[in-house]
Amino acid sequence: MSQQNRLVIFDTTMRDGEQSPGASMTKEEKVRIGKALEKMRVDVIEAGFAAASPGDFAAIQAVAEAVRESTICSLARAVDRDIEHAADALKKAERARIHTFIATSPIHMQYKLRMQPDQVVEQAVYAVKKARSLVEDVEFSCEDAGRSENDFLCRIIEAAINAGARTINIPDTVGYAIPEEFGYKIKTLLERIPNADKAIFSVHCHNDLGLAVANSLAAVANGARQVECTINGLGERAGNAALEEIVMALRTRHDLFGLETGIDTTHIVPTSRLVSSITGFPVQPNKAIVGANAFAHESGIHQDGVLKHRETYEIMKAEDVGWGANKMVMGKHSGRAAFRSRLEELGVTFDTDAALNDAFARFKELADKKHEIFDEDLQALVSEAISDAAPETFKLVALECHSAIGETPVAEVVVSHNGQEQRAKANGSGPVDAALKAIESIAASGANLLLYSVNAITQGTDSQGEVTVRLEKGGRIVNGSGADTDIVVASAKAYIHALNLLLSGAARQHPQADGV
Ligand code: KIV
Ligand code: ZN
Repeated sequence: MSQQNRLVIFDTTMRDGEQSPGASMTKEEKVRIGKALEKMRVDVIEAGFAAASPGDFAAIQAVAEAVRESTICSLARAVDRDIEHAADALKKAERARIHTFIATSPIHMQYKLRMQPDQVVEQAVYAVKKARSLVEDVEFSCEDAGRSENDFLCRIIEAAINAGARTINIPDTVGYAIPEEFGYKIKTLLERIPNADKAIFSVHCHNDLGLAVANSLAAVANGARQVECTINGLGERAGNAALEEIVMALRTRHDLFGLETGIDTTHIVPTSRLVSSITGFPVQPNKAIVGANAFAHESGIHQDGVLKHRETYEIMKAEDVGWGANKMVMGKHSGRAAFRSRLEELGVTFDTDAALNDAFARFKELADKKHEIFDEDLQALVSEAISDAAPETFKLVALECHSAIGETPVAEVVVSHNGQEQRAKANGSGPVDAALKAIESIAASGANLLLYSVNAITQGTDSQGEVTVRLEKGGRIVNGSGADTDIVVASAKAYIHALNLLLSGAARQHPQADGV
């Protein structure tokens, strides 16, 4: 396949996606997502921003070691420290990419960077050369390119390519562009930059106006050959272009685009669920491709049509994107070796025997309550077992609740706080409300509850409920998650997880903070 017909899929779920409030991921979680993306045959995985914190650095390192088939990338501002951190974190990668960037719009240069355009070009060239002295594969981004002047973009991009950048990314950082205009921008740059043929042009669109996918596709129609995107469209503010939508649009409308990706689409739905479960960001039911209703036909006319001839109302096959791929993988009688081996296939390894034993004990408990255990159940189970994000300052020891029609629900909890057990009782509008109030009366966190959501992990009334609790305190936002066949218990676990995350609060530097 010629390069002209191949679209590079660059996934930034673990970097831009992680910039969604509360979506931060642990090292182990990133490795699991990295393995899932590798299985899906994503070309480039942006695993984080190495200079943000020691935790981010370690996570990129771990992904670089665990994932061998995809290129692993770290973001870096156009400064020595960031570029050196990125190169160090990527040392063990089979294929490493440094993605360096600087803002190029008048508003960003004047107010954020406080730099003259000439200085910005000089800094960009310096950064690209520095990155090229450390790795072969360097990508350069013009932050806020959507609002940058084309003349200036032509100048800085030509210089960046001469300095050694082999991918040039044109981000619509604030989601301001409109498809026709953005497509035209890409066409203009490709036509006007004399050395444009020496680099792959990429786009990275934000979804503030709901146009991230449309803008990315317009760019592709005009010559872009890499799209930066995220699973479920996760990302800063309204998110990024959704990987699943880009890939399926290109595949379904091959007649129009004539382009191939390397993606194995059957991994889309399982990966979407994994990301949702790890980040605690539920997928809306009507979300294209991966929403629970994406292939459900409600109206009788549609159902009749689909039964007579599927293509009357369906443009894609549900099984092509991995719906129905969830199979009963384990049961009550499965042993430790089978458990370990299935988890290894899902990208989960345990550092110690004790961690494996703990997860296996939870599996046995679950298998007693629920006969069929699916991959999604295992993912939820290990999310609890191996989360290293937060030391367990609070731990749920016991929970009892009572609710009946006509009576005020009441819950009693025992929570261990740094090893000391405390008991509390509270009333609530329902058993979940009562349980969380009882826990809060012990924790006295004073945090604001921003979101509470429950999702069934699999089908059937014996499914585990997966609960997300988003808490905010002092401007910090965290997402706690918990799963159990009893949703009151799942809710209590999620609340306690969120409390522990709030307390663990290691500071991270935001990549788009002023760094130059
Ligand atoms: O949105 C953006 O501009 C970014 C860059 C750092 C690529 O995320
Ligand atoms: Zn972005």
